[in-house]
Formats: sequence, structure tokens, C-alpha cells
Amino acid sequence: MKTELLGPLDTGRAAQILQRGGLVGLPTETVYGLGADGLNPLAVQGIFQAKGRPQDNPLILHIPDPTWLERYCEEIPLEAWQLARRFWPGPLTMILKCRRRTPEELEELKQGPVCSMTHFGPHIIPDVVTAGLDTVGMRCPAHPLTRAIIQEAGVPIAAPSGNTSGRPSPTTAQHMLEDMDGKIDAIVDGGPCQVGVESTIVDLTCNPPRLLRPGGVPMEELHSVLGGMAIDPAVTHQLGEGEQPRAPGMKYRPYAPKAPVTVIKGDPVRGAIYIRDHISDTHWDGVICFDEFANWFPGHPLECLGAARDSWEQARKLFAALRGMDEAGVKHIWAQCPDSSGIGLAVTNRLNKASGFHIVEV
Ligand code: TXA
Ligand code: MG
Repeated sequence: MKTELLGPLDTGRAAQILQRGGLVGLPTETVYGLGADGLNPLAVQGIFQAKGRPQDNPLILHIPDPTWLERYCEEIPLEAWQLARRFWPGPLTMILKCRRRTPEELEELKQGPVCSMTHFGPHIIPDVVTAGLDTVGMRCPAHPLTRAIIQEAGVPIAAPSGNTSGRPSPTTAQHMLEDMDGKIDAIVDGGPCQVGVESTIVDLTCNPPRLLRPGGVPMEELHSVLGGMAIDPAVTHQLGEGEQPRAPGMKYRPYAPKAPVTVIKGDPVRGAIYIRDHISDTHWDGVICFDEFANWFPGHPLECLGAARDSWEQARKLFAALRGMDEAGVKHIWAQCPDSSGIGLAVTNRLNKASGFHIVEV
């Protein structure tokens, strides 16, 4: 299959490919997503194949505005509407109850024409999207091109991040092409992603609501709307044998570059000194560091994350930095890490996971 590269004038073409059951790389403000018609089980199945994604890891649905929530969800709590008003369109995914088909809808389905795209499950959304759960992740992305494409396609778009499973998420069309060339129909180039880490996921089917994945909306901002909120242990710790995270995807080791990673936490200067003292003399050790320390590691492959105090810049650059290390072919990566306030929690979480929680506190 030849993968077409589409531009801002091709939203109609992208919508058409999606309507016909094809796979399209879509720009969002967080990372590029791999989209398919979320009501077409066959198309959604193709996402799992292209990514090599485990089938038990559910996908989230992308909609163009909050009014679409009622089509696919039920028992929507007040907090969901409040969060949508404050943060949508934007980098927030809400886990809500899937809407079940009414007896009339089931009857209609039995009477109607059957094709390979028909799904008969009790929920409006096919089981392949939700991995058989009775909940679904809903997100309204902020990128204008992707919102236009979803509007034109007229269906909710199921889309995980557009990387091969296990690789860092793509934050440019080029990165997505590296992973998906020849495996999907098209990629829409909407420029580099403005946020750079995936959406924040909050589960609203439990009380209090629970943070499942830190992301583009900082936890502090969610607090201002939600008041009480629990934090899933998978956000901050490596889960023990047999422990199950609430977001199935959090049990895998995503964001992983090929080489092992050591994450250095704490004061940035002390961290840079620690790396300088422990790094091997060879060019096989690479460094991901704050801009202030760019000259400290001559002879080593280097990726700058942004200034030590600018964790928004670090979020934007993180996944490209991890991919850069792969390209340099390093055998070990030393990575500086911001503190956990604001968007820093998402950056820390991705680095912790990339390293398999191999963390040094200085
Ligand atoms: O920013 C984003 O969220 C990007 C862009 C493309 O929208 N998408 C994204 O999707 O990061 P993905 O599939 O890479 O991550 C979604 C996460 C997975 O960890 C999955 O397990 C979890 O959401 N998830 C999906 N549905 C869920 C559900 N019903 N309950 C709990 N977790 C769920
Ligand atoms: Mg992903």
C-alpha cells in the first residue's frame, strides 16, 4: 500500500478515506493519531494490525464537539460537562459509560441489511474499540484540521497514538511516516504538535474521579474543576506482579527507545554533574539534557529538551529526543527529568516508563 501525504487542503480527501474504512494519520495538539471510523469494526481492526497493538488495549474516540457525547455515552455525570466546557477542544480524555442500544435499536438492527461492517453488540460502540469494556474514552482534539476531518466524515474517529506499538509517540508527520509508511492509506501533515505528550485521561465512572494518565492538561487544573480526585498507582509507580492498571495501556512499556534509559531526578546542576561522573567515555552513551548543559558532554550524542524550568518546551521535545537517540544508535541513554509540577508530571511519567522506572535521585 502506498501511504499518501496529505496537506491542509485535503481534509475532504482524508474524510472520504475514513468513511470508506481506511486508515489515516491525523495531527492533534498532543501527538499524531492513527484514525479509523470508530463505528466500523473492520476498519478499527486495521489500526491494531498497523501498530502491532495488543488487542486488549482499548482505543479512544475523537469527536468534534461535546454534543456528540450523548450519542455514544450514558449516565454522563455533571463533571463531564464541566470539564468539557473548560478544557475542550483540548488535551483531555474522559472515560465514560458506553451507551447501550435501546430494544428498538436492537430490533431495527436485526431487521436491517447485514454486511461485514455490522456489529451486533449490546453497545453502540463496537467491542473492538473498547476491548469489550463497558466504558469508553472520549476526546475532543484541538487541531483545526482534524476537527474539520471528523466533522466531514460524520463519524467518531477511533485513534491511538500513531506510532508502532512500544515506540515513542509521533509528534511530526515525518515521525509517523517512519513507523507507518506502507501500512496505512494516508497521513495529514498538520505541522509539529503543540503539546507533544498525549492527553490527560480521567476516569469519571468512579467516585472520586481518577487520574489514569497525566498529560496535556496539568492535574492542578483538573483539581480546580473536580475538587477531589484519586491518582491511579500506575501513574507514579511500576506495578507489581498481577497488579492491573485502570487504563490497560499503562501496563505496557511504551515510549521506549531501543537503548536502556537512566532517568536523573532532582536539582538540574547536581543531575548534570552525576551524568558527567557516570557516563562512559564512548560515544555509545547518549544524553538527553536541559539546554543549560548542552556543552557538558562533548563527544556524546545529545538531544536538548529545553530550558530546565520550561517543562512545556520539554513536553514538546521529549518524544523527538527519544527517537533521536534511536537514530544515533546509542547503547545507553542518560536523561534529565523535570520536577512533577504542572506538565512536568506527564514528562516525568513518560520518562519513567521509557526507563522501566530506572530512576536515580540526586
Ligand atoms: O493524546 C492522545 O490521547 C492521543 C491522540 C492521538 O488523541 N491518543 C492516545 O491514544 O494517546 P493511545 O491509545 O495511545 O492511549 C490511550 C490510552 C491507553 O493507555 C488505553 O489503555 C487507555 O487510553 N484507554 C482507552 N480506553 C479506555 C477505557 N475505556 N478505560 C480505561 N483506559 C482506557
Ligand atoms: Mg499510545
